[in-house]
Parts: sequence; structure tokens; C-alpha cells
Amino acid sequence: ENQEARAAALLAWYDAHHRELPWRTPPREIAAGRRPDPYGVWLSEVMLQQTTVEAVKSYYLRFLARWPTVADLAAAETDDVMKAWAGLGYYSRARNLKACADRVAADHGGLFPDTEDGLRALPGIGAYTAAAIAAIAFGRPAVVVDGNVERVVSRLFAIATPLPAAKEEIRRHVQAMLPADCPGDFAQAMMDLGATICSPRRPKCMLCPLNEGCAALGEGDPERYPVKLPK
Ligand code: ADE
Ligand code: SF4
Repeated sequence: ENQEARAAALLAWYDAHHRELPWRTPPREIAAGRRPDPYGVWLSEVMLQQTTVEAVKSYYLRFLARWPTVADLAAAETDDVMKAWAGLGYYSRARNLKACADRVAADHGGLFPDTEDGLRALPGIGAYTAAAIAAIAFGRPAVVVDGNVERVVSRLFAIATPLPAAKEEIRRHVQAMLPADCPGDFAQAMMDLGATICSPRRPKCMLCPLNEGCAALGEGDPERYPVKLPK
């Protein structure tokens, strides 16, 4: 019930303060029943795997303008896709992107699988990306944990176990908080909180929707978390 109150506070904050990103369907539209296009969610999540939000924006828009559907991307020349990817780095992602589009077009009738397991079976989609797409595009109650979310949760619960050993504990906390009716907004709200409020240095705890129940803030030194093993 504490966890429900946390999720509600987080979602209210996200309603008011979410980042407007080109691949994102705003919470008000989600609430009105609009679903994001799984193709756009997939494209953005693959681009965001190793690249910052700012750098991804223009590439995402260019790809979507040139190849508006997964069938268009499947029909594209690999060479053109590689060229369009130039500058984003980690070029195996571009190869996998094309391979994944080919598979979705050929084996799935142009429709992305709507489960984590189904998504994971595709080229270039690992556990994190499968969870993100399942939650954001399909409303599945998937546990989406990136580095930002690890930091937020480590602080909320003052997790003393160092990373990476704490990962399971962190996942359990996220699972317990997860609202069944809007897992996609919840996942993106956690990402936004970590990116804009609960930053690595000098988190803005005064503005944080979760500050009342934050154990690390209660202790007085949120930057202590996440605990990392000395190298
Ligand atoms: N990083 C990975 N996925 C993201 C998303 N959907 N929104 C913002 N940052 C992200
Ligand atoms: Fe992070 Fe501060 Fe919010 Fe705790 S209160 S989750 S440390 S921003």
C-alpha cells in the first residue's frame, strides 16, 4: 500500500513534468486509450541502448520519415540503413535493426510480438529492451530497470548491497511498485525521475515526488547510493 502510494505520486509527477520526446505518447493520450506504434517504440529503444536521448532525437525522426513502417525498413537496402545510422555508433545495432525488421516482416506479418519472450527472440533485443517495449508499446507489466532506475531505487530503499549484486533486490522493489494499469508510463516516469531529479550528483530531492518515503534522503546523504564495490 506504501508502494501504491509511491507509484501514484510518481505518476502524478510524470503527468505534469514528463519529458516530451518524439517517440513518446504522452500520459494523457495513453489514458484516453491511444497506444504507441510498436515500431517507433522498438526503433527508439534500440537507438537509446548506447546513445543519449539528445543524440537519438534527430536520428529517430529521420528514420521514421524515411521508413515509416517496419515493412518499409525490411524493404530497404542494408547499405542505406547503415549509412543512415552513421554517427550513432555501435554499428552492430544497425545490422541487428535491419535483421529484426526483416524477421518481423517475414515471420510475424509485420507485427511485433507483444510479449517479453517473443520480443527477446528477435535480433538485437535483449532483456532490457524487450521489457521496455513490452511495457511501453503493449502495456505489459514488465520490470524495466536501467542505470537511472537502479540509482533511484537504491536511494529510495537505502540499499546497502553494492551493485551489481543488488540488481535482484532492485528488481523486486520495482516489481512491487509496478502499477498494473500503466506499466509504460511507470517505466518512463522512473527513467525521467532518474534523468532529471534523482541525478548522480546533487539530486533535487526538494522537487522529488518520492521524497517523503526516501530512505537515503532520510539518512541525509543520497549520493552514498548506489553503493559500488571498490575497484
Ligand atoms: N532510455 C531508454 N528508453 C527510454 C525512454 N523510453 N524514454 C527516455 N529515455 C529512455
Ligand atoms: Fe532521489 Fe532525492 Fe527523490 Fe530520494 S528524494 S528518490 S534521493 S531525488
